Amino acid sequence: MSEKKNILVTGGAGFIGSHTCIELLQAGYGVVVVDDLSNSSEKAVDRVRSIVADAAKEGKAPADAAESIVFYKENVLDRAALERIFDAHDIYGVIHFAGYKAVGESVEKPLEYYHNNLVNTLVLCDVMRERGCKNIVFSSSATVYGEPDSVPLSESAPKKPATNPYGWTKWMIEQILTDLSVADPAWNIVLLRYFNPIGAHESGLIGEDPKGIPNNLVPYVAQVAIGKLPAVRVFGNDYDTPDGTGVRDYIHVVDLARGHVAALNWMADKHGVEVVNLGTGKGSSVLDVVAAFSRACGRELPVDIQPRRAGDVAENYADPRKAEEVLGWKAEYDLDRMCADSWRWQSMNPNGYAE
Ligand code: WQD
Repeated sequence: MSEKKNILVTGGAGFIGSHTCIELLQAGYGVVVVDDLSNSSEKAVDRVRSIVADAAKEGKAPADAAESIVFYKENVLDRAALERIFDAHDIYGVIHFAGYKAVGESVEKPLEYYHNNLVNTLVLCDVMRERGCKNIVFSSSATVYGEPDSVPLSESAPKKPATNPYGWTKWMIEQILTDLSVADPAWNIVLLRYFNPIGAHESGLIGEDPKGIPNNLVPYVAQVAIGKLPAVRVFGNDYDTPDGTGVRDYIHVVDLARGHVAALNWMADKHGVEVVNLGTGKGSSVLDVVAAFSRACGRELPVDIQPRRAGDVAENYADPRKAEEVLGWKAEYDLDRMCADSWRWQSMNPNGYAE
């Protein structure tokens, strides 16, 4: 791995992290994964190796891609562990995914969310500074825009007070990294604001694997499709939207992963902080998603119209122009492809990574 630029991927065994590892390896980077497996499985890392080994046989990845990823079961809060990893590898840059991410849970457990998400970032940046590594891509979220005044949302839209501790941690970490850049302009920082990541790698070997009953729409729909859950709960059909249900900007997780590689490539000769939305620029309603997933799984999925969910906004989708102008990146996959890939993952792995 010495001749490659090595990227430390915190939370790299997770849904977005594992997909990003594949794109990094295929792009010729070395990958060092740090994940405490509190909300993920090491099987995802094994499957990443398998996927890139197959890609290498087809000439779609470097021959040594599968040997260019190492995994450490560590918590980013553990400074000594991070220092050992930086001692063992010449780290060019970091993609920071590690963090708790359940909106509802964050309301019940604010101290755990603030401690884990904020302190792990402070420890990470301190060790990076100590070791002279000043390239970081941060997994942020469109949640920092709060209730949008208008859509589509561009990066110039004002950040709004978050509606939950999870959202505040994203908001605050963006501020921490921005202040770090002011103090030391040598830092290269890209804040990627995700809209709604869904889908799975086309192999069906990795995908979203939430614990318990899914909070998010698509993993819930996928479990209805395999018969684990009886019907799709539609949280409100009285919004001011075309069909009355909530509208979001769903983006394929592989497109999202490729946005991270584009951000790393872009920052090679840059300094300072850049904020970039990662979305498709297209809004889809809850019923659009149910229809697309029904097409993917080959049967009409039952829905149950329920009251609105507290904290939900009517619609939210990106103005994706800056990502294309600055990073040269644009989402490629449509909703049908997202649902087809999600269905393949779910039907091949009805219990996710569990046996
Ligand atoms: C999407 C739409 C719901 C579930 C959240 C986080 C955000 C990001 C993505 C991490 C909404 C409706 C949902 C269900 C439904 N996470 N819905 N039935 O709320 O847009 O964003 O996940 O970064 O930070 O806030 O995603 O998938 O929960 O909801 O009708 O069972 O589906 O009302 O309109 P959301 P979601």
